Amino acid sequence: MTVLVTGGAGYIGSHTVVELLNAGYEVVIVDDLSNAKADVIDRIQTITGKSPAFHPINCADKGGLCNVFRSYNINAVIHFAGFKAVGESVKKPLEYYRNNLDSTLTLLEVMEAFDCHKLVFSSSATVYGPNNPHPYREEMPAIQSSSPYGWTKVMIERILTDYCTAHPEFSAILLRYFNPIGAHKSGLLGDDPNGIPNNLMPYIGRVAAGQLEKLTIFGGDYETPDGTCQRDYLHVVDLAIGHLKALEYAQNNSGAEAINLGTGNGISVLELVTAFEKVNNMKLPYEIGPRRDGDLPAFWADATKAKELLGWEATHTVEDMCKSSWEFAKKSKES
Ligand code: UD1
Repeated sequence: MTVLVTGGAGYIGSHTVVELLNAGYEVVIVDDLSNAKADVIDRIQTITGKSPAFHPINCADKGGLCNVFRSYNINAVIHFAGFKAVGESVKKPLEYYRNNLDSTLTLLEVMEAFDCHKLVFSSSATVYGPNNPHPYREEMPAIQSSSPYGWTKVMIERILTDYCTAHPEFSAILLRYFNPIGAHKSGLLGDDPNGIPNNLMPYIGRVAAGQLEKLTIFGGDYETPDGTCQRDYLHVVDLAIGHLKALEYAQNNSGAEAINLGTGNGISVLELVTAFEKVNNMKLPYEIGPRRDGDLPAFWADATKAKELLGWEATHTVEDMCKSSWEFAKKSKES
């Protein structure tokens, strides 16, 4: 079976490609490398001993995408490609709407032209917006977000749901990720954003590696047990495996299905920092700073549906996440 992975050179995409290749799938990657490095493809090959086909094109390039579908017999698509920086999306909304919506619409048109009916989509817990109580459950209204990035996820979920209504043979699994962190155990793949990281774990990694002076914890006065925000951090390899389970589910079902991928546990920024220090035997310089605009105090997943429908459960611990993140950050500094 051949799977097209858009954005397959990115953080979650590359880990998913590794799991697909290890499970015996044929993989074709489409990635314009706008936020990924070309050597990720070599690293995937080093880890798996297999070389996925790679096409460095943007997913909104209809001609290019048609050529890819013409060249391979693609049975299913996992769609990661998209811009993902929350803060940047507030400053550049048009770029975010254009890129994320265009790439999805183009992909759907090409899939339709080539009779491909199975899609797994990279959505986000951000679609639950600020008004739902946690833990978030899939049947809660997921129709809001706090940034243009988040709104593209809400809109794409809507587009895919409407598409499924019009095409009863189509299956779209909307995977709502919580906070993926951690890295591949080889130390070759991980979250390595360009410039200064926005997200917590890559920032911690750069501080630990001495590339940034100290971590600022955004807010110490939230109504949480230790005053810092709580999130549902999950290991990126668990998340990658969730995509394989979703792919299997899509093969045997039709319609749109939203599924949370999280551990079901909330932990605070301070708890994560403490776990990182303990497992890696180091002190992490940090200070408590002001709150960051748009942050919610606390949210985590109700992960029951993923277990019931997909037979998926997160297995890695917070310690695994902190250890592998540091191994990756160390290696990245050296290379
Ligand atoms: C955000 C997005 C989410 C997106 C995810 C990954 C929203 C509401 N959330 O999640 O949709 O999928 O990024 O791109 O749009 N923190 C610090 N110091 C730092 C960095 C972060 O204290 O230097 C704290 C934050 O305040 C937050 C926690 O760490 O409490 C996690 O932040 P982050 O990793 O940026 O993820 P989210 O904001 O939860």
